[in-house]
Amino acid sequence: MILVTGGLGYIGSHTCVALAQAGYRLIIVDNLCNSKPSVLGRIRELAPDATIEFRHADLRDRAALESVFAAHAIGAVVHFAGLKAVGESVEKPLLYWDNNVGGTIALLEAMQRHGVRRIVFSSSATVYGAPEYLPYREEHPLRPESPYGRTKLVIEQLLADQSGSDPDFRYTCLRYFNPIGAHPSGRIGEDPRGIPNNLFPYLTQVASGRLAKLRVFGNDYPTPDGTGVRDYIHVMDLAAGHVTALRYLEERERSITANLGTGSGLSVLQVVTAFARLIGREVPYEFVSRRAGDIAAFWADASLAARELGWRAELGLDDMCRDAWRWQTQNPDGYA
Ligand SMILES: NC(=O)c1ccc[n+]([C@@H]2O[C@H](COP(=O)([O-])OP(=O)(O)OC[C@H]3O[C@@H](n4cnc5c(N)ncnc54)[C@H](O)[C@@H]3O)[C@@H](O)[C@H]2O)c1
Repeated sequence: MILVTGGLGYIGSHTCVALAQAGYRLIIVDNLCNSKPSVLGRIRELAPDATIEFRHADLRDRAALESVFAAHAIGAVVHFAGLKAVGESVEKPLLYWDNNVGGTIALLEAMQRHGVRRIVFSSSATVYGAPEYLPYREEHPLRPESPYGRTKLVIEQLLADQSGSDPDFRYTCLRYFNPIGAHPSGRIGEDPRGIPNNLFPYLTQVASGRLAKLRVFGNDYPTPDGTGVRDYIHVMDLAAGHVTALRYLEERERSITANLGTGSGLSVLQVVTAFARLIGREVPYEFVSRRAGDIAAFWADASLAARELGWRAELGLDDMCRDAWRWQTQNPDGYA
């Protein structure tokens, strides 16, 4: 059985469906701090034949975690649970260190007690910091610029230390670039609380009339059209990457840290234009000043994942736009 922490969140829910469809039995642990209980029903609906259990618990609740490990024969962990808002992490660093790092330590302790030695971890491209060169390769210097990014880097180091102490302990750190899109059924997708932080949920909510105008942060970056450039990756490709990473841990005697991106960058205006073309009308937007701490452009060198894991992103921008729009139109208020 696979323990999926944070499995009711955006990336976790898509990955649970992919894992269940690949034949894995799942136990999801989530404290619902950034997700809704109804996600579970949607996951089960998309993988009706699978065993998918759920425990409402916080990773830092050691007694609850112990009872999950005691009650299930867990073979590996896929670890999504964490807080992820860069701006909030600047305001509340203790919360981020406690939740992300503290939660991971409690998880690793439980794994150790129960002899579980395989973990796939959700890391992030934010561990790189200001680019010395692009695309980022995995050996690029690691200088995250926010408390959030530093918690991700410290967890990567923690996993390396743990595997140093126990040669049988193996991990994959997956450094995600910018996941967008939704499941093609329109049943699961990204449902941020309040005003979205990220481009895509903002864009789809403007297009549906829920928000008035998209704010584009900065049009004076040294990029072809002046707006920020990111490596957007379809959440379905990302989910498939986790199935591949888990198989890698089962089959190979080593740990790995790999970028999960498409390998190319798209500007905010390219994304807005593609999305408007797809829905057949303009989406109102305005330029506002740059956001503190934002990097002009970054994208992944995705060749390590292709070479070592045999994984590459297959879906393009039109798929991302179409699936995100289907999710938005079928669920105008997100998960009810
Ligand atoms: N979405 C992105 O752009 C992105 C990019 C890079 C990395 N990541 C990382 O991927 C992971 C998943 O991201 P997401 O976009 O799905 O986020 P999300 O907020 O949708 O999902 C995270 C889930 O973890 C749960 N959770 C948080 N803290 C918990 C705790 N202490 N105990 C139990 N459950 C807890 C939340 O309720 C939520 O369901 C996160 O670790 C995030 O840092 C996300």
